[in-house]
Amino acid sequence: MHSFGYRANALLAFSVTILALICGIASFSDNFNSPSPDAQVQVLNINWFRKKPDGNDEVSLTLNISANLESLFTWNTKQVFVFLAAEYKTPKNELNQGSNLRGKDFNLTLHWHVMPKTGKMFRDNLVMSGFRLPEAYR
Ligand SMILES: *[C@@H]1O[C@H](CO)[C@@H](O)[C@H](O)[C@H]1NC(C)=O
Ligand SMILES: *[C@@H]1O[C@H](CO)[C@@H](O)[C@H](O)[C@H]1NC(C)=O
Repeated sequence: MHSFGYRANALLAFSVTILALICGIASFSDNFNSPSPDAQVQVLNINWFRKKPDGNDEVSLTLNISANLESLFTWNTKQVFVFLAAEYKTPKNELNQGSNLRGKDFNLTLHWHVMPKTGKMFRDNLVMSGFRLPEAYR
Protein backbone atom coordinates (compact mmCIF):
# COMPACT_ATOMS: atom_id res chain seq x y z
CA MET A 1 0.00 0.00 0.00
CA HIS A 2 1.49 3.35 -1.08
CA SER A 3 1.41 6.26 1.29
CA PHE A 4 -0.49 9.45 0.56
CA GLY A 5 2.81 11.34 0.19
CA TYR A 6 4.06 8.89 -2.38
CA ARG A 7 0.85 9.21 -4.41
CA ALA A 8 0.83 13.01 -4.22
CA ASN A 9 4.40 13.03 -5.39
CA ALA A 10 3.69 10.69 -8.27
CA LEU A 11 0.69 12.78 -9.30
CA LEU A 12 2.74 15.97 -9.23
CA ALA A 13 5.51 14.41 -11.27
CA PHE A 14 2.94 13.18 -13.78
CA SER A 15 1.32 16.66 -14.04
CA VAL A 16 4.66 18.35 -14.56
CA THR A 17 5.53 15.85 -17.25
CA ILE A 18 2.23 16.46 -19.06
CA LEU A 19 2.69 20.22 -18.78
CA ALA A 20 6.19 19.99 -20.20
CA LEU A 21 4.88 17.83 -23.01
CA ILE A 22 2.12 20.31 -23.88
CA CYS A 23 4.61 23.20 -23.86
CA GLY A 24 6.84 21.17 -26.12
CA ILE A 25 4.02 20.50 -28.56
CA ALA A 26 2.88 24.13 -28.53
CA SER A 27 6.40 25.32 -29.20
CA PHE A 28 7.00 22.66 -31.83
CA SER A 29 3.75 23.47 -33.62
CA ASP A 30 5.12 26.96 -34.29
CA ASN A 31 7.44 25.36 -36.80
CA PHE A 32 4.49 24.54 -39.01
CA ASN A 33 3.10 28.03 -39.06
CA SER A 34 4.98 30.15 -41.56
CA PRO A 35 3.65 33.65 -40.98
CA SER A 36 3.31 35.79 -44.06
CA PRO A 37 2.08 39.22 -43.01
CA ASP A 38 1.52 41.69 -45.76
CA ALA A 39 1.56 45.44 -45.56
CA GLN A 40 1.13 48.50 -47.71
CA VAL A 41 2.52 51.85 -46.78
CA GLN A 42 1.70 55.07 -48.53
CA VAL A 43 3.36 58.39 -47.80
CA LEU A 44 0.40 60.72 -47.58
CA ASN A 45 2.30 63.87 -46.76
CA ILE A 46 5.75 65.21 -46.03
CA ASN A 47 5.05 67.53 -43.14
CA TRP A 48 8.53 68.93 -42.96
CA PHE A 49 12.00 68.12 -44.16
CA ARG A 50 14.80 70.20 -42.75
CA LYS A 51 18.37 70.36 -41.65
CA LYS A 52 18.72 70.42 -37.89
CA PRO A 53 21.35 72.62 -36.18
CA ASP A 54 23.44 69.49 -35.47
CA GLY A 55 23.72 68.90 -39.22
CA ASN A 56 21.47 65.85 -39.46
CA ASP A 57 18.35 65.94 -41.56
CA GLU A 58 14.94 65.54 -40.02
CA VAL A 59 11.79 64.52 -41.82
CA SER A 60 8.22 64.18 -40.63
CA LEU A 61 5.94 62.00 -42.70
CA THR A 62 2.27 61.16 -42.51
CA LEU A 63 1.87 57.53 -43.44
CA ASN A 64 -1.04 55.33 -44.29
CA ILE A 65 -0.14 51.86 -43.07
CA SER A 66 -2.33 48.87 -43.81
CA ALA A 67 -1.10 45.55 -42.53
CA ASN A 68 -2.56 42.11 -42.15
CA LEU A 69 -0.80 40.48 -39.21
CA GLU A 70 -3.31 37.71 -38.73
CA SER A 71 -0.85 34.97 -39.64
CA LEU A 72 1.38 35.96 -36.70
CA PHE A 73 -1.26 34.91 -34.23
CA THR A 74 -1.52 31.27 -33.29
CA TRP A 75 -2.70 29.59 -30.11
CA ASN A 76 0.86 29.93 -28.83
CA THR A 77 1.18 33.69 -29.41
CA LYS A 78 1.44 35.82 -26.31
CA GLN A 79 2.26 39.17 -27.82
CA VAL A 80 3.54 40.69 -31.01
CA PHE A 81 5.77 43.73 -31.17
CA VAL A 82 5.63 45.57 -34.48
CA PHE A 83 7.47 48.64 -35.70
CA LEU A 84 8.22 50.38 -38.95
CA ALA A 85 11.73 51.63 -39.63
CA ALA A 86 12.99 53.90 -42.37
CA GLU A 87 16.22 52.55 -43.77
CA TYR A 88 18.54 54.19 -46.19
CA LYS A 89 22.16 54.15 -47.19
CA THR A 90 24.57 56.94 -46.43
CA PRO A 91 28.26 56.96 -47.24
CA LYS A 92 29.13 56.60 -43.55
CA ASN A 93 26.34 54.08 -42.95
CA GLU A 94 25.17 55.65 -39.74
CA LEU A 95 22.03 54.09 -38.39
CA ASN A 96 18.91 56.19 -38.59
CA GLN A 97 20.57 59.51 -38.99
CA GLY A 98 22.33 61.26 -41.76
CA SER A 99 22.93 64.56 -43.39
CA ASN A 100 22.12 65.68 -46.89
CA LEU A 101 19.42 63.12 -47.50
CA ARG A 102 17.76 65.23 -50.19
CA GLY A 103 16.54 63.12 -53.06
CA LYS A 104 17.68 59.90 -51.33
CA ASP A 105 15.81 56.66 -51.77
CA PHE A 106 14.71 54.89 -48.65
CA ASN A 107 13.02 51.69 -47.65
CA LEU A 108 10.36 51.26 -45.04
CA THR A 109 10.79 48.00 -43.19
CA LEU A 110 8.06 46.50 -41.07
CA HIS A 111 9.66 44.47 -38.27
CA TRP A 112 7.82 42.05 -36.05
CA HIS A 113 8.92 40.20 -32.94
CA VAL A 114 6.62 37.43 -31.81
CA MET A 115 6.71 36.41 -28.17
CA PRO A 116 5.15 32.98 -27.75
CA LYS A 117 3.53 31.65 -24.62
CA THR A 118 6.14 28.94 -24.64
CA GLY A 119 9.16 28.32 -26.81
CA LYS A 120 11.52 30.71 -28.48
CA MET A 121 10.85 34.20 -29.70
CA PHE A 122 11.13 34.81 -33.41
CA ARG A 123 11.41 37.88 -35.56
CA ASP A 124 11.20 38.73 -39.19
CA ASN A 125 10.60 41.72 -41.40
CA LEU A 126 9.13 42.91 -44.65
CA VAL A 127 10.99 45.45 -46.76
CA MET A 128 9.00 47.93 -48.78
CA SER A 129 11.15 49.89 -51.18
CA GLY A 130 10.70 52.69 -53.61
CA PHE A 131 10.33 55.70 -51.31
CA ARG A 132 12.18 58.90 -51.97
CA LEU A 133 12.85 62.06 -50.03
CA PRO A 134 12.20 65.38 -51.74
CA GLU A 135 14.97 67.19 -53.60
CA ALA A 136 14.57 70.28 -51.44
CA TYR A 137 14.00 71.08 -47.78
CA ARG A 138 10.54 72.32 -46.99
C1 LIG B 1 -5.10 54.04 -46.78
O1 LIG B 1 -4.89 52.84 -47.51
C2 LIG B 1 -6.05 52.04 -47.64
C3 LIG B 1 -5.67 50.74 -48.33
O2 LIG B 1 -4.36 50.72 -48.80
C4 LIG B 1 -7.11 52.80 -48.41
O3 LIG B 1 -8.27 52.00 -48.49
C5 LIG B 1 -7.42 54.09 -47.67
O4 LIG B 1 -8.34 54.84 -48.42
C6 LIG B 1 -6.15 54.89 -47.46
N1 LIG B 1 -6.47 56.06 -46.65
C7 LIG B 1 -6.05 57.27 -46.95
C8 LIG B 1 -6.40 58.34 -45.98
O5 LIG B 1 -5.39 57.50 -47.97
C1 LIG C 1 15.96 48.64 -50.15
O1 LIG C 1 15.79 47.25 -50.11
C2 LIG C 1 16.26 46.58 -51.26
C3 LIG C 1 15.86 45.13 -51.15
O2 LIG C 1 16.16 44.60 -49.88
C4 LIG C 1 17.78 46.77 -51.34
O3 LIG C 1 18.29 46.14 -52.49
C5 LIG C 1 18.07 48.26 -51.42
O4 LIG C 1 19.45 48.48 -51.40
C6 LIG C 1 17.43 48.98 -50.25
N1 LIG C 1 17.57 50.41 -50.48
C7 LIG C 1 18.01 51.22 -49.52
C8 LIG C 1 18.03 52.66 -49.90
O5 LIG C 1 18.35 50.82 -48.42
